Amino acid sequence: MLAYRHAFHAGNHADVLKHCVLQQILMYMNQKDKPYWVIDTHAGAGMYSLASDYANTKSEYLDGVARLWDCDDLPPVLREYMNLIQLCNNKGDWSLYPGSPEVIRRTIRTDDRMRLFELHPTDFDILQENFERDRQAKLFKSDGFASLKALLPPPTRRAVIFMDPPYEIKTDYPKVVDALQEGLARFAEGVYVVWYPILTRGDHIRMLESLRKLSEKTLNIAMTVQEPDEKGFGMLGSGLFIINPPWTLKDTMQEIMPYLVEKLAQYPGASYEIS
Ligand SMILES: C[S@@+](CC[C@H](N)C(=O)[O-])C[C@H]1O[C@@H](n2cnc3c(N)ncnc32)[C@H](O)[C@@H]1O
Repeated sequence: MLAYRHAFHAGNHADVLKHCVLQQILMYMNQKDKPYWVIDTHAGAGMYSLASDYANTKSEYLDGVARLWDCDDLPPVLREYMNLIQLCNNKGDWSLYPGSPEVIRRTIRTDDRMRLFELHPTDFDILQENFERDRQAKLFKSDGFASLKALLPPPTRRAVIFMDPPYEIKTDYPKVVDALQEGLARFAEGVYVVWYPILTRGDHIRMLESLRKLSEKTLNIAMTVQEPDEKGFGMLGSGLFIINPPWTLKDTMQEIMPYLVEKLAQYPGASYEIS
């Protein structure tokens, strides 16, 4: 059942948006002294080689992070994101791409904690290899949707819940809504971040409608960069739906989205939405 491997997609346009927003949210959390948790319900392997056969099957990173490698006019927010990637590599080399657990590890402070869920046995083993000596991290080879509620509320009563499912199975959409509903019932103050793909079949639209009913404090950041393929399919873009977003995030993203869309556009109609 678990066919999805993020190694095929690492560093694509969706990762750029997702990891840049995640980093900004954590940097905001860092402004307050009190420690917090980051719960990554769908963690993946943690680190990816862009030189691998997986990454080069479709070379999605070439239309993603690679378009930013040589830019010397990056806005400060994107410079921060690229600096984080550069810290994972030898100087001037970009062959390693950090997944969400690594973005989290490199952004949180020593008293903060991470809880990582990953179901795929191979990706879990790689994640474990990358994180087993990390005293701030705890790893679980279990269902991130079902397990989330047991961790809420976290002891520090501050947390970011990052939910990034593959959506290869249609049931992921209602599972996201159910998991957030249960999460909010136990821990209403949490910052909940849901990534979603923009596909031609439009499943994300129904999910967003349901998510909007869960809270009044929401922010949606979405970017469309690609046209459907010749069969009318494909991931046209992606978005992040956030409940209880940092109040600064909307303005921060307004500043960089025009630049990001221009750099990542694969057709003249590429666009973004912040709502
Ligand atoms: C999009 S990838 C995650 C990428 C990662 N968050 C990142 O940004 O680097 C989704 C991951 O979720 C895993 N997965 C799928 N269903 C899951 C579930 N119910 N619970 C936990 N992990 C799951 C998949 O094996 C895959 O590695």
